[in-house]
Amino acid sequence: MLKQTVVSSLPVRVRDQVDAWIEAAEVVAEMKDPRVLRSLGPASVRGLILHRGKQGTPTKMPASHSAHFDWTYPSDQPAMKDLYRRAKAGQWDGEKDLPWSISVDPENPEVPLLPADFIDDSLLHKHGIHLDEKERRRLDYSMVTWTLSQFLHGEQGALFAAAQVTEAVQFFDGKLYGATQVMDEGRHVEVFSRYLQDKMGRLYQINDNLFVIIDALMTDSRWDMKFLGMQIMVEGLALGAFSTLYTQTKEPLLRELLKRVIMDEARHVHYGVVALKQHIKTELSAREREEREDWAFEVALLMRNRFMAYEVFDEWFSGRISREAWREIVLGAPGMSRFRHTMFKRLVPNLRDIGLLTPRIIPAYERAGLTEYFGGKAAPELTGEQMVAELDRAAA
Ligand SMILES: [Fe+2]
Ligand SMILES: [Fe+2]
Repeated sequence: MLKQTVVSSLPVRVRDQVDAWIEAAEVVAEMKDPRVLRSLGPASVRGLILHRGKQGTPTKMPASHSAHFDWTYPSDQPAMKDLYRRAKAGQWDGEKDLPWSISVDPENPEVPLLPADFIDDSLLHKHGIHLDEKERRRLDYSMVTWTLSQFLHGEQGALFAAAQVTEAVQFFDGKLYGATQVMDEGRHVEVFSRYLQDKMGRLYQINDNLFVIIDALMTDSRWDMKFLGMQIMVEGLALGAFSTLYTQTKEPLLRELLKRVIMDEARHVHYGVVALKQHIKTELSAREREEREDWAFEVALLMRNRFMAYEVFDEWFSGRISREAWREIVLGAPGMSRFRHTMFKRLVPNLRDIGLLTPRIIPAYERAGLTEYFGGKAAPELTGEQMVAELDRAAA
């Protein structure tokens, strides 16, 4: 309250900057475990304060993991071998297998990119924003383009992380499987990038919070932290976001693209669960496991509370409403709440399955209001096909 009183007394430009700094400080203050702070703190400074992802130049992230060679080529991970087979059979061609000839008009009311209630108009009105129909469609167009841009940036992170974990993991069957994931992520970069360029005609910069997560896991030398960060957390976030957009958009090319990507991502999360389950339960000390429990919880909160589409705010509303008002609009958007629901439905059961939802951390999840997701299906119990069928049923 005091914070907002102080912030609102400042001139507009200064006010937005100070609000951003306070928010960055809050992200770091939320990290109660000093080991989590050590892992996410430097990445937070680079992302939230220095805005390294928005400099308009390539970003260099030093990697410090060890490549694990095994000259005996063992095959002792049947679940990973099976995923490798399925991944080979499930390859598709981003050029030939999608109906790129469909012409997309992002502002066509007959084929809306988002449902009319994705953003709640009454919340816009509450803060004095009154948009005519055309402007409202353009705002939805901005929101979709922003979301797809973040998918694309996330996919670039996934491509490099998949390459890193393929080197670092000790399971040989996991390395062969990992090669297919590198190909999958390359294809995802290809199709999202093409869709944004050819059909949406623009690209937003990477969101600072997404940058923080990618930076933290790319620079962490421990393979299991990379796995946890990318294969469980970011892939869980991606599945939640892809699934929500898949059920909500009416644009046929985007639906087809998302459906194919969801099938691939379901395999990626499955692999993450298989690889981590054994490792967390048998290889880690109690202290090491606790660090991962805390890390996963902090990142889950970061994903839930911090993707505020400020890049859209800057474009549309900077100087007209405060960042605080924008947060209220985004947090109250029915479309965003469906996204958070789907994300946690996918994510929490996987954390349970790999052994990171222990009695020690459960109260923190309860306080965060996530109890309803404890009993859901984890990735190994759900194939990509079943996931898409479930989404189609829910949308029908
Ligand atoms: Fe991907
Ligand atoms: Fe993936």
